[in-house]
Amino acid sequence: MLDLAYAALKPILFSMDAETAHERVLGLASSMPGLVRALTPDRRPPASLARDVAGVRFASPVGLAAGLDKNGEALAIWDRLGFGFIEIGTVTPRPQAGNPRPRVHRLVAHRAVVNSMGFPSDGMATMRAQLETTRTQGRWPSVPVGINLGKNKTTSAESAGDDYAELARELQEFADYFVVNVSSPNTPGLRDLQTVEPLRRIVRATLDEAGDVPVFVKFAPDLDDDGLTAGVEGSIAEGAQGIIATNTTRQRFGIAEAEELTGGLSGAPLKPLAHERIALALQAAGTTPVIGVGGVLGPQDATDYLELGCAAVQVYTGFIYAGPGLPHAINEALR
Ligand SMILES: Cc1cc2nc3c(=O)[nH]c(=O)nc-3n(C[C@H](O)[C@H](O)[C@H](O)COP(=O)(O)O)c2cc1C
Repeated sequence: MLDLAYAALKPILFSMDAETAHERVLGLASSMPGLVRALTPDRRPPASLARDVAGVRFASPVGLAAGLDKNGEALAIWDRLGFGFIEIGTVTPRPQAGNPRPRVHRLVAHRAVVNSMGFPSDGMATMRAQLETTRTQGRWPSVPVGINLGKNKTTSAESAGDDYAELARELQEFADYFVVNVSSPNTPGLRDLQTVEPLRRIVRATLDEAGDVPVFVKFAPDLDDDGLTAGVEGSIAEGAQGIIATNTTRQRFGIAEAEELTGGLSGAPLKPLAHERIALALQAAGTTPVIGVGGVLGPQDATDYLELGCAAVQVYTGFIYAGPGLPHAINEALR
């Protein structure tokens, strides 16, 4: 039913600007959570797929990647679709608008997206209120919720640690894990924070305010081998309990339509690069869990990353192209 509804709706959604379509769907889920939840078939994963990742009990190794539910508006529906964990955000301390629109472009023939969103965020106070409401109304999901943290555009590189620390302090009671996001290509200077010393300071500042909540670090696929290895090793030495690889790429892989667009590319063309970067991250991480993300469009992609050694995988662009049945399809294949 849900899959048929999506198949029917997809041409309409794909005829709209990508971000507008996204807002319509999310708006429906957030304005009528009870109804949407009732209409969403319960496809929660079987208990056999549950696993511990950094001490957090994921209901399955398939998670929602950051950026799809930036403000935690639709928290009530993701677990029913089969996601075993949900990552919301990126949230910034103060509200900010992000870059001018249009800033999300589908490259349908390539099953890819290029986005230059630049962390549009309602800010942490609004997210807190949103999460409090979800909780008091009894709609808190049955699976872990990670919160992905980013600095405001106007915060200097030197003060970046303060932004991450403040977010961890304010949102701690709602998070099962935090993610230090220093890997978006759309905030000027952000990715420079992936170099070892600034990154270690940010991880330390976040951990200091995170209480018992584990802190993961998310990396870009565009770092060179030494940069990625040093970043992963440095974060773990500082106390990070998980690694997420990868964010979107600045590379274009010869795709002409993508060359004309600024921002990060995701989806099918990212997979070979992400696969290679994840393999390196796994080597550098040793026994620390790595969550693989980038170009998971079907069950085989998820299996590839899990067989490589990832503790779990995440999905963003695949959800747009394959639809809401994707997490369930992956769970079924893993079972
Ligand atoms: C439109 C869009 C917005 C995104 N926003 C965020 C974000 O706010 N924070 C983040 O860490 N990653 C963000 N991402 C990156 C995804 O979480 C993921 O790392 C990347 O897209 C690769 O996975 P995919 O190929 O499954 O999309 C975004 C991706 C897209 C396509």
